[in-house]
Amino acid sequence: EKGGYDHFMMKEMVEQPKAMMEALMSRCCENGASFAGLKLNAEMMKKINRIQIVACGTAYHAGMVGKYYFEKFARISVETEAASEYRYKNPIVDENTLLIVISQSGETADTLAAIRLAKERGAWVLAVTNVVGSSIAREADDVIYTNAGPEIAVASTKAYVTQVGCMMLLASFLGNLNGKMKKEDAARICHGLMMTPGLIDKALETQDVIKAFADKNYQISDLFYMGRGVDLYTSMEGSLKLKEISYIHSEAYAAGELKHGPIALIEDGTIVVAVCTQENVFEKMLSNIKEVKARGAHVLAIVQAGHEDIASEVDEVWVIPEMDDDITAIPTIVYLQLLAYYLAVARGCDVDKPKNLAKSVTVE
Ligand code: M6R
Repeated sequence: EKGGYDHFMMKEMVEQPKAMMEALMSRCCENGASFAGLKLNAEMMKKINRIQIVACGTAYHAGMVGKYYFEKFARISVETEAASEYRYKNPIVDENTLLIVISQSGETADTLAAIRLAKERGAWVLAVTNVVGSSIAREADDVIYTNAGPEIAVASTKAYVTQVGCMMLLASFLGNLNGKMKKEDAARICHGLMMTPGLIDKALETQDVIKAFADKNYQISDLFYMGRGVDLYTSMEGSLKLKEISYIHSEAYAAGELKHGPIALIEDGTIVVAVCTQENVFEKMLSNIKEVKARGAHVLAIVQAGHEDIASEVDEVWVIPEMDDDITAIPTIVYLQLLAYYLAVARGCDVDKPKNLAKSVTVE
C-alpha cells in the first residue's frame, strides 16, 4: 500500500508531480485560469468588498501564499487567518464578504465552524478541499477540488502543493474578472504552473544531497528558516513540516525581522536555511545572510540557477532550476519537505505517525 516506499510521506512526496497535473488539468488555460462549475462570477464579485482566507496548519500556509498572489495579481486586499482565531473574534464578515477556506480533509472542526459563522452572516463561502463530499465541501457554497488524491501521512505534502497551485489559479482568475491582471501575466503564470510537475521531479532527484545533509546534521536541536516575500511562507511551511515529524525545534522568520530580536538566538553552528528564490529581494537576503554568519550561523542557501556564486558567502548551497519567480513556492517546498523527512528518518522518528498528531483534527 505504500507503493514500495518506507513511508506514506515519501510515496506522497513522489506523487506530487502527478497531483499537480491533476490540480491544473483543464483549469490552466492560455488566457488565465478557468474553473468549470464555479458559481462565483464577475457579477457576484462586483458586490464583494472583503476577501478572507481561513484555514489551519499547512492549509493556512497555502492561504498565506494565496493572499500574496491575490494582492499581486488581482490587486485585491485579503486577510488570511487561522480558523481557530477567526471563529472566536467576532470577525467582520457580511453579505459582501467572500470567505475562502482551505482544507485537505474537509473535516477540520475550526475551519468548519468558520464556514458556519460566515454563512450565518451572509458571506459567500468557497472551499478549496481535497476530499469530495467532505463536510466542508458540502457546507460551502462553491468548491474547488485540489485533486491531489488520498493523503495518508499526517504531514501534508501533495495536498499543500495542489492548494498553492489552486490559490495561484484563483488569484489569476479573480485578476481576470476584475481586469487587474494583464493578459500576458495570466498566460505567463499558467505557463509557469504547467512547468511545476517537471520542476518537482527535479527536486525529487536531489534526494541524495538532502539525505547526506540530514545524516550529517541530524543531532541538531534547533533550525531556523528565513525568507522574504513568498519565500517567507515556504519557510513557515518547511518549519512546520520539520517540527511535526522530526521534533526538532524550529522557527521561520521574515529575514528582515531577525535583527529585531530572533538573531539573539543564533549561536556558533546554528543552522539557518535561507530561502532566496526571489530576485527582487536577493540582495536584501544576502545582507541578512551576512548578519547571521557574523553570529556564527551555518547557512544553507536555496537559490535559483544563476546564483551559484552565493557559495562564497554561505556554508552550503542547494541550486534549484531557473524558473519564473512567481512559481517558486511550489518546487521549493519539496526540498524542505525532503529535508524534514530525512532529518526525521535519521533521528529514528515514526514519520507517518508523529506523536501527539492526528491526520484530521475534527475536535477543537
Ligand atoms: O485537513 P486540513 O487541511 O484542514 O488540516 C489542517 C491541518 O490540521 C493540517 O494541515 C496539519 O497542519 C498537517 N498535519 C500539516 O502537515
